[in-house]
Amino acid sequence: MLSRLLVLTASPVALIMAAQPALAQTPQTDTVAAADAPGDMPAEARVHPEQWPEIAFPRVLTEAGEARVQAILARMTVEQKVGQIIQADIASVTPEDVRRYRLGSVLNGGNSGPGGDDLAPAEKWLELADAFYDASMDVAVGEPAIPIVWGTDAVHGHSNIIGATIFPHNVGLGATRDPELIERIGRVTAVEIRVTGQEWTFAPTVAVPQDYRWGRAYEGYSSDPSLVAAYVGSMIRGLQGPPSTSPILAGPHVAASTKHYLADGGTTDGRDQGDAAISELELRLIHGAPYIPAIENGVATIMTSFSSWNGVKLSAHRGLVTDVLKGRMNFDGMVITDWNAHGQVAGCSNASCPRAVDAGIDMFMAPDSWRMFYDSTLAQVRDGTIAMDRLDDAVARVLRLKERLGLFEMGNPSQRALSGEYELLGAPDHRAVAREAVRKSMVLLKNTGVLPLQPGGRILVAGDAANDIARQSGGWTLSWQGTGLENDLFPGATSLWSGIEQAATATGGSAQLSEDGTFTQRPDAAIVIFGETPYAEFQGDIATLQLRPELRGPIATMRRLKEQGIPVVAVMITGRPLYVNEALNTADAFVAAWLPGSEGAGVADMLFAGADGAPAFEFQGLLPTAWPATARHGGATLFPFGYGMRYADGPAAWTPLPEDSGVTDDGGDSGVFFERGVPASSWSLTVSQADGTNALRVTTVPAEALDGRVRIAATDHGVQEGARSFAVDAHAQGAAIELSTFDPIDLSRETNGDMLLLTTVRRDAPIARTLSMAVSCDSAPCGEAVPVREFGALALGEWQTVGVLLKCFRATGADMTRITAPFRIATDGAAEISIARVALGSLSEADVIADCPTD
Ligand code: BGC
Ligand code: BGC
Repeated sequence: MLSRLLVLTASPVALIMAAQPALAQTPQTDTVAAADAPGDMPAEARVHPEQWPEIAFPRVLTEAGEARVQAILARMTVEQKVGQIIQADIASVTPEDVRRYRLGSVLNGGNSGPGGDDLAPAEKWLELADAFYDASMDVAVGEPAIPIVWGTDAVHGHSNIIGATIFPHNVGLGATRDPELIERIGRVTAVEIRVTGQEWTFAPTVAVPQDYRWGRAYEGYSSDPSLVAAYVGSMIRGLQGPPSTSPILAGPHVAASTKHYLADGGTTDGRDQGDAAISELELRLIHGAPYIPAIENGVATIMTSFSSWNGVKLSAHRGLVTDVLKGRMNFDGMVITDWNAHGQVAGCSNASCPRAVDAGIDMFMAPDSWRMFYDSTLAQVRDGTIAMDRLDDAVARVLRLKERLGLFEMGNPSQRALSGEYELLGAPDHRAVAREAVRKSMVLLKNTGVLPLQPGGRILVAGDAANDIARQSGGWTLSWQGTGLENDLFPGATSLWSGIEQAATATGGSAQLSEDGTFTQRPDAAIVIFGETPYAEFQGDIATLQLRPELRGPIATMRRLKEQGIPVVAVMITGRPLYVNEALNTADAFVAAWLPGSEGAGVADMLFAGADGAPAFEFQGLLPTAWPATARHGGATLFPFGYGMRYADGPAAWTPLPEDSGVTDDGGDSGVFFERGVPASSWSLTVSQADGTNALRVTTVPAEALDGRVRIAATDHGVQEGARSFAVDAHAQGAAIELSTFDPIDLSRETNGDMLLLTTVRRDAPIARTLSMAVSCDSAPCGEAVPVREFGALALGEWQTVGVLLKCFRATGADMTRITAPFRIATDGAAEISIARVALGSLSEADVIADCPTD
């Protein structure tokens, strides 16, 4: 199978579909054993379990282990059972809560860390793991005591922990075509997780992305189901060890989770958390393929997707969860929901979702909603809404996971093997595996002869991504979005720049870093490193396959260098193939480096020749998905799946590509409402009375509103006139500044994801009365205004970014699905402020976070 993968260049999905004519003609009617579904289940969302593969789940518990599970279950109270099926986030739960509510699990979401510090040192994570464990084992509140299990997103190494080895994101691993390497990565990741006391990772993501506009495309190995499937078993064995009845924690291992079941990578327009409107055949053959090796290798848990299949949310899809996964495919592990995903199920809220229990969910990720969820679920069990045997089945599956891990006899986290061996985080042999992965993931797309760089040369390193470890690591690195992190937060890691500098000097040459490409001494060659900035989940969704306009500066640098006769090597940091024909045409060589992680030296390994003038390493990377010829999804392909040049084949001539993106939008960021002092396209800036009357739409400055009582002018921020100042007179009796649009936008995902409205603002005079902020829904005020005292406390004359959690607006009653004005700031007294930028963003981007109630 692997050799076929290495040479396959035709669309693998098309091949699969073509190879299944009989199945393709199977009538998709609800007369064929449709899974028993609620009456409102649309016909196209009903499944035919008998068409899915039958798989044998390996034996992972001894008879004694199963007997222990049943014995514990028999002793549990209803309260204890409900507690077991709930997972809370460490930002919203304390060991005391765990002791009292007997919760089954905790997680750390992307922005959560011990003591509220996402960047807490490794020791603190282990201490907290002990505290939760001890609380779960306290028998003073009643027996049986059941050890807690902690899940974490170690999705490319133990990536929440400072100093850990950060591996390339999955898209890069997809290019390596090396399952054996994948297994070693799993093993290293498991060892590093064990150091800080967690037992479970929400990985691997086995999505099969079909549309790379999806913000999570980089979390998937490939758009080719057979390539993804060829990796899954290796990653699971690396993380968990081979399936066996000996406890997972007895070896250097942790429990794994394949996610997100099912068709997270198949949603329309690549919309994160969207709907996969596809046939059952595609669902099974493309998105279902990786679950076969996952189950065969005994994956301990499976996480359901936020997304829907033909309109039905996976978190409550009984046919797919119970009838197909647990029934037909014999998955004997535990099914967990995603972050408050149950709240998106029709008829449910974050606080209650009996339908998802009924559908077959065994554990609920109820990060901040766990207490309300506990109360409602308990009531629903008591009044019979939730069947006791379903609850018992869910609890048994939670207990089996714990039994299988060996939690009942391992003692507290710090007593277990590997715990506290902090030198294992980022250990040299771990980094060596990551560096090997970086080398093998590089895909050479163009080389007219500049590569390999010859020894002894003077190398200029340019581009805004050259010396930025967070940038080369992408989302899910230390924080959820992976943004706002300086290099010093990555001890032991190597940026691409420092890897190149080492390689250049090791071969008797020199290197100079100059982001904008200016130089004093003429270089022999330049390496320009550019590409995407970090993002996670829906924040990474894009409308068209292009690099955001503000990230294209390095392409101009390439052009300038070429004009001076300097050979240019382009290295692209990216989570996905994008339309970058200008860069491909301009540079003499082009390497797709994906999101390589902490071992940037692996990139340099591929670019330099050794002393003998021959390349030090051969390129092995092959595209894990097709590279587009335009920015249009579904448009023409430039390089097919499986493409990648080798040094052995020699340089190749280049025929210039048309520089026409084929789309009309410019690739700008949809989460930005106001920038450089002007509203984003389709947004308007208005100034009105606080009650909304007498509105003036501000198009040019200077301008006056409310009969001259509000004056609007240009002021500088970053660039000349990069902001607007607003001076409101005391006589104005209040004024409001608003950014609005005609078509409502849906900010519910952003609200669930703890995102903020960020305002980059400067206070230009003392403010007597508290400014308040609000949103509008359907062009009318909705919810109450949120007083933001922090504005009044800003240092005079200094730019700061103030963040207000979107949840604050939801808590006041705003309907976050129909927002027409995400920004409305009002004063009922005199005020002088300047505003440069208004955008959605995450916690790490705010200097000041408003203290306001959330729900
Ligand atoms: C993501 C999951 C992740 C979970 C916990 C969710 O928002 O979709 O992939 O495992 O959060 O952080
Ligand atoms: C993510 C979590 C993250 C949170 C941010 C969720 O959607 O999955 O991992 O911590 O948003 O608050």
